[in-house]
Amino acid sequence: MFAELPTPPQDPILGLAKLFAQDRADNKVDLGIGVYKDERGEVPILRSVKQAESWLAAHQKSKSYLSSIGNPDFNRLIGELVLGAESDALRRSQTIQTPGGTGALRVAADLLHKLRPHRRIFIPSRTWANHQPLFLAAGLEVVPYPYYDVTRGELQFEAVLAALAEMTREDVLLLHGCCQNPTGADFDSAQWRAIAELLVRTGAVPLVDLAYQGFAVGLREDAAAVALLASRLPELLVASSCSKNFALYRERVGALTVIGAREADAATARAHALIVARTNYSMPPDHGAAIVACILGSDPLRGEWEQELRAMRERIKAMRVQLVANLEAHGARDLQFLAHQRGMFALLGLSAQAVEALRIRHHVYITGSGRINVAGLTPDNVARVAAAIAAVRDG
Ligand code: LMR
Repeated sequence: MFAELPTPPQDPILGLAKLFAQDRADNKVDLGIGVYKDERGEVPILRSVKQAESWLAAHQKSKSYLSSIGNPDFNRLIGELVLGAESDALRRSQTIQTPGGTGALRVAADLLHKLRPHRRIFIPSRTWANHQPLFLAAGLEVVPYPYYDVTRGELQFEAVLAALAEMTREDVLLLHGCCQNPTGADFDSAQWRAIAELLVRTGAVPLVDLAYQGFAVGLREDAAAVALLASRLPELLVASSCSKNFALYRERVGALTVIGAREADAATARAHALIVARTNYSMPPDHGAAIVACILGSDPLRGEWEQELRAMRERIKAMRVQLVANLEAHGARDLQFLAHQRGMFALLGLSAQAVEALRIRHHVYITGSGRINVAGLTPDNVARVAAAIAAVRDG
């Protein structure tokens, strides 16, 4: 049966990593997959993570199974991180550990489909390249809503509201909690309030993808939208990730938080989510979650982690400013918006040919959609990258 199979399409983000690995040029620059790189262009292991790992190596007593829920301390601490330790919504929430943020999204999608098979999910047009395939694979009907004007580098908020007005209580709305991937353009607080009102009016249920908490303004500020939605709505799902803010990418650490109208509803929803988990991967991998629980549960380690997270956030902001300055020096004066957007990603509005020219002529790798990972820029490569972008824009 395998002999008959056609070659499937490459994943737009993972496929690029393969091309980058094959490129022998000394000066190649990877601005593809979303990983944070330091000033030297390396993907570091955080100091807080190293310390937690040393503690675990000395003190962990068993590698026996936990359960489909994962690490209970991790779940409690992540619930507090996502909703706020003082939040009333905590009481009517349940969190389960999942294999990464992607695992959380897939458990959520399978759960939503299981509870109502012909469900629609509204997703922003532009969104993470894996959202649509993931929701389709779970059997949901995907409805894109307009979100962003790539040429002007602006959110299209009126168009968002108009498109979402047709949602009903049967529908799900995918929202990015902060650091929208790939645009870097987030709703402001007034816009979030309008979205919350729209959800109250239509009865649609939000699923918030919170993969970048701590990369925009700060840990609490970046979860303000989740807190607002939890305070206004009876039901909400949040898929969060520790890949970026703990730099634990390959450990696959994430969580799904479900909030119900009542405590008992959240417990029932969790029981159903656990069946989804058990019939798929059974139990999430432990090591990364044990590290996160160790860091969040210790004041000194947590303090160190928050400092490291702040440093990552500030470095990305500085690179945004430097990129814009360098682009201006090369005559590209219409991309100032890049300096004010948030998180790892930005859209350059390049054609497919320009993206290819960047890769082939300049050895600068960005995804086919024209997305760059700003966190891959360094003081050493930013001038060259800006010159290359300006050159391919000019043809
Ligand atoms: C990205 O958008 O590059 C990251 O979320 C990594 C991934 O899995 O695609």
